[in-house]
Amino acid sequence: MSEILVEEKQGVVWVTINRPEVRNALSRPLNLKLQEVAAKYDEQYESVRALVITGAGDKAFSAGADLKERKSVAAEESLPYVTAIRTAIRAWGDLKLPTIALMNGSAYGGGLELAMACDFRILVEGAEVGLTEVRLGIMPGAGGTQRLPRLIGEARAKELIMLGRRISAARAYEIGLVHQVVPRDQLRAAGEALVAEIVAAAPISVMASKSAIERGYARPMAEGLEIEGQCYERTLYTQDRDEGLAAFAAGRAPKYQGR
Ligand code: COA
Repeated sequence: MSEILVEEKQGVVWVTINRPEVRNALSRPLNLKLQEVAAKYDEQYESVRALVITGAGDKAFSAGADLKERKSVAAEESLPYVTAIRTAIRAWGDLKLPTIALMNGSAYGGGLELAMACDFRILVEGAEVGLTEVRLGIMPGAGGTQRLPRLIGEARAKELIMLGRRISAARAYEIGLVHQVVPRDQLRAAGEALVAEIVAAAPISVMASKSAIERGYARPMAEGLEIEGQCYERTLYTQDRDEGLAAFAAGRAPKYQGR
């Protein structure tokens, strides 16, 4: 069985990390595959509307870096392993398309970093999340120290990262780390409902908005407003803009083509 399953259905790509026996730990080969998937769909952004990533089994979304693989490699030879996870997660974070982490279980270390690189996070009830690296003698190295404070603020990020705390799904929701917490039997439906909302909007508008938020965030307001103006222009001369206005005038649902 492949360590990563990719299914494309009606313009939505469903990716499953498929190593449930090791709690979907991110090995180097798996990271290289995750990077390939991101690269492929970053190029095909005109024909795809969203990517959803989940994990196999009901124990973990991902337990992060493959610690057994790491242990088998001497510290001085471990750089390619760290680089592979960092590059893969960055590739997911850099995707133009909207992304959803459908978190079927707990997420630690690189697993949580991967989820944080996605635009939306839906977490199953009863799961836990944490950036546990300091307890393992390392530190988050695939975006954690940068993405977590941007998502939940510096004070709470320090609490999670510097103490290596594991927190409950309810707490993750409370601090704004995940968008939704749902019972296990409703996880897939929650993912599909979110996908349906994304698909109902104009694709170029969704991608341009994502870009404006990400490029403008944490910049001075004047620069951020400039960036917003540049991104807005991408929507101005599209057929979808005309379709949106026409559908509104006619009182019907718009049919967007991504053009
Ligand atoms: N890398 C490699 N293997 C891992 C792993 C990881 N990150 N996390 C779990 N596994 C393996 C275990 O070693 C075990 O293998 P075994 O069956 O050969 O003994 C198997 O997955 C099941 O793990 P287990 O701990 O028995 O399952 P669980 O469901 O009780 O607990 C976790 C799951 C994820 C809570 C627990 O395994 C854990 O805390 N893992 C470490 C998470 C972490 O700190 N990651 C940060 C990495 S930087």
